[in-house]
Amino acid sequence: MKALIVYGTRYGSAAEISQEIGNVLRKENVEVDVVDSRGLKKFDTSSYDLVVLGSGIKVGSWTKSALKFIENHQNDLEDKKVALFVSCIANRDEKLLKEAQEKYLDDVADKYLTNPPVASGLFGGVINPNGKFGLMDKVILKMVKKDLESKGIDTSKPYDTRDWDQIHKWAQDLIN
Ligand SMILES: Cc1cc2nc3c(=O)[nH]c(=O)nc-3n(C[C@H](O)[C@H](O)[C@H](O)COP(=O)(O)O)c2cc1C
Repeated sequence: MKALIVYGTRYGSAAEISQEIGNVLRKENVEVDVVDSRGLKKFDTSSYDLVVLGSGIKVGSWTKSALKFIENHQNDLEDKKVALFVSCIANRDEKLLKEAQEKYLDDVADKYLTNPPVASGLFGGVINPNGKFGLMDKVILKMVKKDLESKGIDTSKPYDTRDWDQIHKWAQDLIN
């Protein structure tokens, strides 16, 4: 079996998750390629049985390059197993989680995929107060931090809501 993992990332989290999914699949003797969607135009997906597509979320959106990849390969993906995942911090709260599942995963699947995905994973994300952010990001980040602090979360340290056991299990289930 051969798997392709294509991700979009702004701060590195979806890239780390992609590498980890790749590691799980390789342990099961799957041949895996992990590719950053940035700058990618046309990619030959013909040899892959499974394609995992993922992105970090910023202000409710996937990265442009990850969405472009899906758009540009819509026909190629038709006859493959396709799985979607996102990295975001909406998994910190049940209500946000439900909304995020619909908006970041179900809506994207409906809009871009011909067939429903075999799996969709809403994984956590990271807010790193020491990260490099542009002006707009800083403004948004201020609001995010305020919300986290109101819930007693210390935002002076990196806040990481990723559950690696969940990610490992999700990856494992892709081939079972
Ligand atoms: C400016 C900014 C906006 C964000 N917007 C959202 C959001 O709308 N929803 C969400 O759940 N998480 C949001 N996050 C959290 C990110 O999804 C989290 O940092 C994730 O790890 C990003 O993945 P990436 O590093 O692969 O880009 C935001 C983070 C930043 C810095």
